[in-house]
Amino acid sequence: MLDELAQIERDGLTLLAASKDAASLERWRLDYLGDKGRLKQANLRFREVPKEQKPAAGAKLNAVQKSLQEAFDARKAEVGAAAPPTGPMLDLTEPGLTPPIGRRHILMRVREELCEVFARMGFEVADGPELEDEAHNFTLLNIPPDHPARSPIDNFYVDDPDATDRPRMLRSQTSTVQARVMETRKPPIRIVAPGRVYRPDTVDATHSFMFHQIEGLSVDRGVSLADLKTTLMQFARAYFGPDADIRLRPSFFPFTEPSAELDMKIALRPGDPPRWIELGGCGMVDPAVFTACGIDPEEWTGFAFGFGIERIAMGRYKVPDIRMLFENDLRFLAQV
Ligand code: DAH
Repeated sequence: MLDELAQIERDGLTLLAASKDAASLERWRLDYLGDKGRLKQANLRFREVPKEQKPAAGAKLNAVQKSLQEAFDARKAEVGAAAPPTGPMLDLTEPGLTPPIGRRHILMRVREELCEVFARMGFEVADGPELEDEAHNFTLLNIPPDHPARSPIDNFYVDDPDATDRPRMLRSQTSTVQARVMETRKPPIRIVAPGRVYRPDTVDATHSFMFHQIEGLSVDRGVSLADLKTTLMQFARAYFGPDADIRLRPSFFPFTEPSAELDMKIALRPGDPPRWIELGGCGMVDPAVFTACGIDPEEWTGFAFGFGIERIAMGRYKVPDIRMLFENDLRFLAQV
């Protein structure tokens, strides 16, 4: 029995060493460790072993069983590790390639930021059409028929065979939205209106035939110039930081009286000295505009303002040329 077990162990180890893949290992396992394998057979014959030899034979049986099982486990690990992987080679720990994703255009971001700051001061966002009529672009805003601002040289009029009585144009200012809101709503009114405007200017570093403005209008009982100044000051500080300042320079617009140009003193970057930048116009709504839009100027007063959004974006992000904002060069857009 002892000899037989030693033989099984030798044969087993030799054959195991020659098993080079999972299939031959499995065959070996059935031959040696399986239910009908050689060790099981030897175990069955254990009964026939004379009594006095049983302890030695039993110990040997256990030892061979253990030795073959361990050898099998070790060999299996070796063969498994050496085996070429089947299926696709995938390393799930490898960092992926980040697909280039877009971002909001700088002008749209500034526009959103401006609306947000004014929303905190109680202004809602209003909207109006870019294809306008002369009434909303000029007449209701107290710009008389012979005013030079109406000149075809300074505006994009649109041929519209259906509207010969109501000539159309691409709006030249967002002040049109003031007229539209006042026509349809009763005060109190507090709106901002961001949007595109069009003027046939020759394109250069500071001019474009299309740009963006944000208009503001506040109408209520007892609104004064002090309210306008306070609102503009609060806006400047909220958007450009606590050191921002504003300056109003007397000016003229047909739809406001008095009227002013608005400058803001802003540090364009942290650490830069603040400097004055002209942002647009403002003033107290002219009573003639209220009357034209159906609001009683004896009861209501209001202020209005209009800023250039490109101006603000260029000042804030140090963009030297307005054309960069419209060329959609991704190398530029990725930086601002
Ligand atoms: N609409 C004027 C422009 O385009 C800007 C402006 C000035 C808007 C005064 C206003 C205002 O609301 O009160 O030049």
